[in-house]
Amino acid sequence: MTSAEIRNKFLTFFEGKGHHIVPSSPIVLKDDPTLLFTNAGMNQFKDYFLGNKPAPYKRVVDTQKCLRVSGKHNDLEEVGVDTYHHTMFEMLGNWSFGDYFKKEAISWSWELLTEEYGIDKDRLYATVFEGDAKENIPASTIALGIWKELLPADHIVFGNKKDNFWEMGDTGPCGPCSEIHVDCRSDEERAAVPGQLLVNKDHPQVIEIWNNVFIQYNRLKDGTLQPLAATHVDTGMGLERLVRVLQGKSSNYDTDIFSGSIQTTELISGKKYTAGDSKPDVAFRVLADHIRAIAFTIADGQLPSNTGAGYVIRRILRRAVRYYYTYLDVKEPMLHQLLPGLAEQFKEVFPELQAQLGFIA
Ligand code: SER
Repeated sequence: MTSAEIRNKFLTFFEGKGHHIVPSSPIVLKDDPTLLFTNAGMNQFKDYFLGNKPAPYKRVVDTQKCLRVSGKHNDLEEVGVDTYHHTMFEMLGNWSFGDYFKKEAISWSWELLTEEYGIDKDRLYATVFEGDAKENIPASTIALGIWKELLPADHIVFGNKKDNFWEMGDTGPCGPCSEIHVDCRSDEERAAVPGQLLVNKDHPQVIEIWNNVFIQYNRLKDGTLQPLAATHVDTGMGLERLVRVLQGKSSNYDTDIFSGSIQTTELISGKKYTAGDSKPDVAFRVLADHIRAIAFTIADGQLPSNTGAGYVIRRILRRAVRYYYTYLDVKEPMLHQLLPGLAEQFKEVFPELQAQLGFIA
């Protein structure tokens, strides 16, 4: 399956479960003082979770452009060095606003991954929140019970507040979560060390692909947790990781999402990408990643500048330039040459790149 087919399957699967397909909100946030950029699919739905506004649909599904380079969720220094963190990424999400809850969310995620996408059940692990006495939040016994019907006990892992309680920032809607991890190692490696021991241990081949968050609280400014009047579902699956798993690759950069930019960079630099850990290889990945963040944020109205959100984009731009100048020996501006391929790749789902190509370049 191509990345476009994988994205479409997600949307149509949930459409078939009564979800309304909605567009991504802009990656640049203008109306939320707690965030500079959209860092999760749920940002645009915050007011529905908090009960400040009625949701127009009880169930929605989308792919959201996200950026995790500032604030609570910041992955910038990992990007390019490893093979599965990104600045800009697409988060596939299905949402329930006061409608279905844990049972449906978990069962549908399992059905989609194993029956529709055909991921081997033996390679999947689920994490469950163990509770937190200090905050007086109970363990997720309901989620545990649902997973026990789907998975053997040695494929379920308990996690603490850091891994299994999701918050978008210092304040706002939040709740316990249940993640799905996939073990992409070889059969020999899997026989030698059980995947259960490698979940949430930064192993490059045992990675989280989907987070099912059960929004039950609002984190207030004074740090307290206020239970919400209704409960909601917020799920997020990184498209780039999912595509890597389904295309049988060991790196996100070997998928059709990034291969176009890598090939163009090879042509411009006259160097070959060898998918290793050398500085030039890191540079190829940095460029393939950063061009997306830069292009999408400019298209959504954030120009690089010397303050605030603009400065974040300038730092990404500088990091990209530094890498091609230093490690690929390209001494002329080159990022704009990656744009036409990117705009073509995303023209069906994010036509804003094509529409603003000259301006972004
Ligand atoms: N909000 C959760 C996350 O970003 C799930 O969508 O991981």
